[in-house]
Amino acid sequence: MKGIILHGGAGTRLRPLTFTGPKQLVPVANKPISQYVLEDLVSAGVKDIAIVLGETYPELVKEHYGDGSRFGAKITYIHQGKPLGIAHAVALCREFIGEDRFIVYLGDNLLQHGVKPYLDKFLSEELDAMVLLKEVKDPTSFGVAKFDERGELIGLVEKPKKPPSNYALVGVYFLTPVFFEVVKNLKPSWRGELEITDALQMMIDRKLKVSYGIVSGWWIDTGKKDDILEANALILDERIERSIQGEVINSRIEGRVSIEEGAKILNSIVRGPTIIGENSVIEDSFIGPYTSIGKNVRIKNSSIEYSVILDNVEITGIERLEESLIGKNAIIRKNEERKIIKLHVGDYSEVNL
Ligand code: DAU
Repeated sequence: MKGIILHGGAGTRLRPLTFTGPKQLVPVANKPISQYVLEDLVSAGVKDIAIVLGETYPELVKEHYGDGSRFGAKITYIHQGKPLGIAHAVALCREFIGEDRFIVYLGDNLLQHGVKPYLDKFLSEELDAMVLLKEVKDPTSFGVAKFDERGELIGLVEKPKKPPSNYALVGVYFLTPVFFEVVKNLKPSWRGELEITDALQMMIDRKLKVSYGIVSGWWIDTGKKDDILEANALILDERIERSIQGEVINSRIEGRVSIEEGAKILNSIVRGPTIIGENSVIEDSFIGPYTSIGKNVRIKNSSIEYSVILDNVEITGIERLEESLIGKNAIIRKNEERKIIKLHVGDYSEVNL
């Protein structure tokens, strides 16, 4: 069994963060989203993994994952460049896969219980392909499943205006090398991409054995700011333990808070679940709950809740910063002298005052 992690794509909905790195490296609970994906594959026993790279700083991905040994995996990098479609990205892995069965995992998808519970069904039923589905209120921004009256999967439609069901395609696909035969006949869709949904539809039409698993527990496709905040809250809620490595002076630390080495909390309250990264300094502030603070962050006279703050940020004098995603090296300061607002904001930023 091999794995493919898709790490390309444009990430336009996460600008400006994606001007300086791929969206899959945006951290939740201080760890890149795609690292949860890699760790999930490894814990399901899939250790031979290809990472497909896009055009946005692919070297940052290589720098973070290296040869994979740090994560108990063996990583092969495959360059896709322009995002010509999920099926296009997978087709580039033909040689890497050889005659093995494999899992394609979109590098921006998070699953509460991971892929292991579904792998057994795929292997034991000797399927040609298996998709994962999750019931959602509005499936129009996903691939959507179509069933017959007996509940058999008969079709998959990409982002339909009139969805045939409420079952969205989760970004995890269990496949066999027959996929590569099918993909040869695939034509680009209306959005110019080779769609994996179309390839799967062709497999269904050819009467190959294509089945599905229904995902229990949560699933998040972290395409937008609010998805990142939700994923951050869920991961903090489930995985953060109380651990205080840094220094706490004249402060109150409530509940499951992780304060990493070199961090300093002065005259402040930190409420869990929250993580404070290495060498960050929190002074005269209130942090949490559901907040991740990266490394080398400086926070003074501020209160921050339900937010993700990346490395090297400075925040001073800001009361009630909530539901915010702040990129690396950003500075947010209250101007005490005059009641005016001075901004130096990157392209595609969003400021709600
Ligand atoms: O998240 C689940 C959804 O993912 C499915 O329901 C849809 O059927 C599927 O098409 C996909 O839809 P998205 O619109 O969310 O796809 P997106 O363009 O965001 O790409 C998904 C991931 O794959 C993302 O991590 C980027 C990566 N990717 C995408 C393309 C098009 C690549 O690496 N290369 C590509 O060419």
